[in-house]
Amino acid sequence: MPHVLVTGGAGFIGSQVVEAAVERGWPVRVLDSWRGDVHASSDIGLGRRLPSDVEVVHADVRDASAVFDALDDIDVISHHAAKVGLGVDFDDTTDYVDSNDLGTAVLLTQAARRGIRRLVLASSMVVYGEGRYRDALGSASALARSQTDLAAGRFEPLSPRTGLPMQPEPIDEDAPLDPRNVYAATKVAQENLVRAWARAGGGVAAMLRYHNVYGPRMPGGTPYAGVASLFRSALERGDAPQVFEDGAQRRDFVHVADVARANLAAIEWTSGREPGDVRAFNIASGHPHTVGEFAAALSRAYGGPDPIVTGEFRLGDVRHITASARRASRELGFTAQVDFERGVREFAAAVLRPAVERRSAER
Ligand SMILES: NC(=O)c1ccc[n+]([C@@H]2O[C@H](COP(=O)([O-])OP(=O)(O)OC[C@H]3O[C@@H](n4cnc5c(N)ncnc54)[C@H](O)[C@@H]3O)[C@@H](O)[C@H]2O)c1
Repeated sequence: MPHVLVTGGAGFIGSQVVEAAVERGWPVRVLDSWRGDVHASSDIGLGRRLPSDVEVVHADVRDASAVFDALDDIDVISHHAAKVGLGVDFDDTTDYVDSNDLGTAVLLTQAARRGIRRLVLASSMVVYGEGRYRDALGSASALARSQTDLAAGRFEPLSPRTGLPMQPEPIDEDAPLDPRNVYAATKVAQENLVRAWARAGGGVAAMLRYHNVYGPRMPGGTPYAGVASLFRSALERGDAPQVFEDGAQRRDFVHVADVARANLAAIEWTSGREPGDVRAFNIASGHPHTVGEFAAALSRAYGGPDPIVTGEFRLGDVRHITASARRASRELGFTAQVDFERGVREFAAAVLRPAVERRSAER
């Protein structure tokens, strides 16, 4: 029975990993700073949304001595603590790098001091940038879309070789990494730090590249939240979900209960492997949908107004990114179990994490 430290265990995904591990009978410790810009002040430090038998450490992952203490007697680290999302503006850059990369560096240093050699990293599909495409000549990659094209409503990336629209395809883990925004750059850096740690000290790590995770306890009312949470929050206010671009962006929406299951499989995978073994896995449903389809299904299930396609865009967003889920299935034995219709229906009725009342100056 592995003793697991879940960093970011008070968050949306981390808390579900905690619950799944506790259900399995594994002892769990949580380390979380309860960032003031993602948690409501009434929740901070309390751990009251966590199972009662979980040990809770209220500390920042950048605090070396707190992390060293929290790693006492730990077999595996599940590293979820991070500043997430696309960011509000470029001013957020230092905070992203500090939280995500310095935080990971401190954690890995203390893990090495403690002789801990097993780790699961919460990585992301954002490391790929645009997904994989096919043009008339074969497999192709897409360049970043220009402000001019987006403003003119030309959302589909064109083939750099033929100048024509391309067919999106599922991406696999061997695709080159091409981060397109600051958050994505910090996730790539996290992966690189984990590889360096494993190489230097014989560590074993599974890096889970989550696709679009949705489900109960998604954050409500934060500017950093993903689309699923923004759509759900809009419906709760009685508003129509606002869908950017033309709504035809393809994504893989994966339910958080499946992501928690994938984490347990990955934790088990780290046991008994060769020192230095590091592997990336897409964690996805394997069934792509468009953002517009997700919004429409959610509005229907909620009984709210139909979504509005606004044509707005964000420069850091990619057009299509969907996953091959084959490696996780073959090597981790993980296949998503929550299908789209059921997941969206449940999400329409689920409780969101309480909204943040203020934008904290916490760094
Ligand atoms: N939500 C998604 O769709 C998605 C997709 C891909 C990857 N991820 C990754 O999954 C992980 C969890 O994301 P989430 O959606 O649950 O976000 P979240 O904001 O709900 O949870 C993150 C948790 O980490 C904590 N935290 C942040 N910085 C910290 C620090 N320096 N020290 C200690 N605790 C800190 C926060 O207080 C929060 O409780 C992140 O690493 C994120 O990059 C999420």
